[in-house]
Amino acid sequence: MALWGGRFTGQTSDLFKAFNDSLPVDYRMAEQDIVGSISWARALATVNVLTAQEQQDLEAALNALLAEVKADPAIVLLSDAEDIHSWVEGKLIDAVGDLGKKLHTGRSRNDQVATDLKLWCKEQVATLAGLLENLIESLVELAKREQDTVLPGYTHLQRAQPVTFAHWCLAYVEMFERDLIRLNNALNLLDTSPLGCGALAGTAYAIDREALAKDLGFARATRNSLDSVSDRDHVMELLSVASISSVHLSRMAEDIIFYNSGEAGFLEMADNVTSGSSLMPQKKNPDAMELIRGKCGRVVGSLTGMLTTMKALPLAYNKDMQEDKEGLFDAVDTWTICLQMAVLCIDGLKTNPERTYTAAQQGYSNATELADYLVAKGIPFREAHHIVGVAVVAAIELKQPLEDLPIEKLKEFSDVIEDDVYQHLTIEACLEKRVALGGTSKEQVKAAIAAKAK
Ligand code: ARG
Repeated sequence: MALWGGRFTGQTSDLFKAFNDSLPVDYRMAEQDIVGSISWARALATVNVLTAQEQQDLEAALNALLAEVKADPAIVLLSDAEDIHSWVEGKLIDAVGDLGKKLHTGRSRNDQVATDLKLWCKEQVATLAGLLENLIESLVELAKREQDTVLPGYTHLQRAQPVTFAHWCLAYVEMFERDLIRLNNALNLLDTSPLGCGALAGTAYAIDREALAKDLGFARATRNSLDSVSDRDHVMELLSVASISSVHLSRMAEDIIFYNSGEAGFLEMADNVTSGSSLMPQKKNPDAMELIRGKCGRVVGSLTGMLTTMKALPLAYNKDMQEDKEGLFDAVDTWTICLQMAVLCIDGLKTNPERTYTAAQQGYSNATELADYLVAKGIPFREAHHIVGVAVVAAIELKQPLEDLPIEKLKEFSDVIEDDVYQHLTIEACLEKRVALGGTSKEQVKAAIAAKAK
């Protein structure tokens, strides 16, 4: 039975019911709704709306329902209740009769749904933070293993300067660490309880909302009832943290897809996260990474959808807000599985150090080193840059890397060049010069790993 029948004489159309009902989506908040109801019953007892006995009876029945839902969350879906709030109230009335009808005193589904969703978000934040930490750990482990593996570093997808594979891993560690901070910032802001704000104006019972907030595990109570029932900042914020993190995941996926390609051959993804082709027997496709790259689109889409739903909504609650959950749930689920999948992929990556070394030697990625060598010999950098540009063109014509040009040839570009130039042109020299904070020298990378390792 609907919670609002008295005002109506006409029948609800079946189409409207299907359109309006949110149970198929918000059934996932069953536990939160029950927990919120238990706290609300306790609050009602403090203002004598319920006797101590009534409150205990309600709490016992709600706990029994909680156990039922935990055992099988899908039982909720067997009902044709309008939403999760109606379902819980209906089950309570089935269990304890008329007493169950007292629970909604002074409460609205508006403060109720806002509370449920915040409780749900808090739980997700805890899970997601753990998953981000796992991924960070996997990347740090890979960095530890690959400190000696050289990787061509790119800008514009052109070989630029060599880096180590460990340095690449740690770049993504930085991104996922920022995501973790963003997630905790979001948690701090959303950790406020809207319960006791009623439909929009506040509840008419003198409830201690701070105590109620504490009972529910929130850090504090919200301050304004109009805002409390219509605030969905936490949904937008979690979606934006999820979107930024998904963008990071998609960039990492794209790098790995490229490194795994036949053209690059820098690494191989494990059999457990790749698939074959139904036609071409030789194929081993990086599906897991392509899906991570692709699913990012859905997460960002959910953020865009929610921002657009909220835009220009008047105070206070509007039914538009019911649209918040579908996108949020999907985005959180998607982000969750992408984080898990990323760990599985990273743990199974096998690099091909010979191949990456050879690739790093190609593409004149030591040209900056030659320019720096000239600078050390007293030539201003801008001039040195020009000289090396000319040398690179000549070397390309000769189809040789800079370090293979004989000294006579190199001297044609600048007479300050001596035999000692060759020691500056090795990959090792390129790497080892990057000793300033954040650089790719072994020493810096080692320090970075030590700073991350718990
Ligand atoms: N299912 C609703 C939602 O998710 C619950 C709140 C309903 N409130 C109302 N005034 N109809 O937003």
